[in-house]
Amino acid sequence: MPCAKGLQEYGGTPTLMSVRRVSLYQELSIFSGNAHPQLARSICDYLGRPMGQIEVFEFSNEEVFVKILENVRQRDCFLIQPISSPVNTRLMELLVMIDAFKRSSAGRITAVMPYYAYGRSDKKDQPRVPISARLVANLLETAGADRILTIDLHAGQIQGFFNIPLDELTALYLLTRYFKEKTLQNPVVVATDVGDSKRARNLAERMDTPLAIIEKRRSGNVERAEAMNLIGEVEGCDAIVIDDEILTGGTILQAVNVIKAHGAQDIYVAATHGILSANAGAKLAEAPIKELVITDTLPVPPDKLTPQAKVVSVAPLLGEAISRIHTGQSVGALFQ
Ligand code: R5P
Repeated sequence: MPCAKGLQEYGGTPTLMSVRRVSLYQELSIFSGNAHPQLARSICDYLGRPMGQIEVFEFSNEEVFVKILENVRQRDCFLIQPISSPVNTRLMELLVMIDAFKRSSAGRITAVMPYYAYGRSDKKDQPRVPISARLVANLLETAGADRILTIDLHAGQIQGFFNIPLDELTALYLLTRYFKEKTLQNPVVVATDVGDSKRARNLAERMDTPLAIIEKRRSGNVERAEAMNLIGEVEGCDAIVIDDEILTGGTILQAVNVIKAHGAQDIYVAATHGILSANAGAKLAEAPIKELVITDTLPVPPDKLTPQAKVVSVAPLLGEAISRIHTGQSVGALFQ
C-alpha cells in the first residue's frame, strides 16, 4: 500500500510515514456509486488498488438498484459517494449500496461522503422545521453503515448525530499549502460569516496573516444572503475569502463586494465544497475574483468552472485516511 509518498502531497507531516500494518479485516476494497467515479478512481490510484466491480442504476420507474459483481465477504469496504446533485438520488444510491453490502456479508462498511448534504439543516432554529442532517445520519446507520468518513462538515456538531465512528477530515491544510506557495501582498484572510470565523481563523493562523470578518445576515429560509459590516482591515491587502461551501455564490459575491469597497487589492476565494448550483459559476466569473480555489469533494461540470477556478484534489488525503482506517492507525495524526 503506497502510503508514504502521499503524506507530503496534502501537507501532512513526513515523520508520520505510514508503516505496513495488518488489518483486522480482510482485503481493503473501494467501490463507487454514480456521484463521483473520477474521485474514486484517483483514490484507487493513490492506494494502488483496483476499483471494485458494481452496478448502480435506476429502473425506468426511478427506483435505484445495486448489484455487487464480486465477492465481498468479510472485506473492509469503502463506498465513495459524495452527496452531489441530484442530491436525493445520490443519497438513495448510497443507502441502497450499504444495504447490498450488508446483505453480502461485508466485514465492515465505511460510507465515504466527502460532501455531506443536508448539513445546513442541523438544528431546529425556527418552529416546525426538521433537522434533516440528523435524519440522514439515522438513515445511514439504519441501512447498515459501520463508519463514516467525511470532509469539512457544515457544522462539526453533525458528528454527534451518529452513534457509529465518524472521521471528519479537513481540506484546510491543502488550501493553506496552496496559498503559501503564492506571493501575496499584505495577505489577510476574510471570514464570510461571524458564525463560521473559526475556519478562517485557523487559515489565518497557519498563513500567519491578520483576520477580517464579514457580518452576514440571512432572513427566513431564502437562499440569498445579505452581507452587512466588515470587522477588520483589508485596505491595500490581498484578501483570501474562505467559506466551507459555495452554493448560489451569493455569500461570496456579497463578501467580495464589501471588501472591494473597503479597498482590498487582489481577491482570492477558497472553499472546500464547490456545489455551484444554478448560475453560480457565471456570476462568480463576472466578479473581481483573481482565483476561485475549490477542492474535488464534489464533481464540478467543466461548464461551471470559471476561468479563475483552480481545483485541488482531496484524493491523496482520502486515500491516506482510508489506508489508516484499514490498518487501525491514527487518522488524527495526519493533522498534527
Ligand atoms: C453558510 O452558512 C455557509 O457557510 C455558506 O456561506 C453558504 O452555504 C453559501 O451559500 P451561498 O453560496 O448560496 O451563499
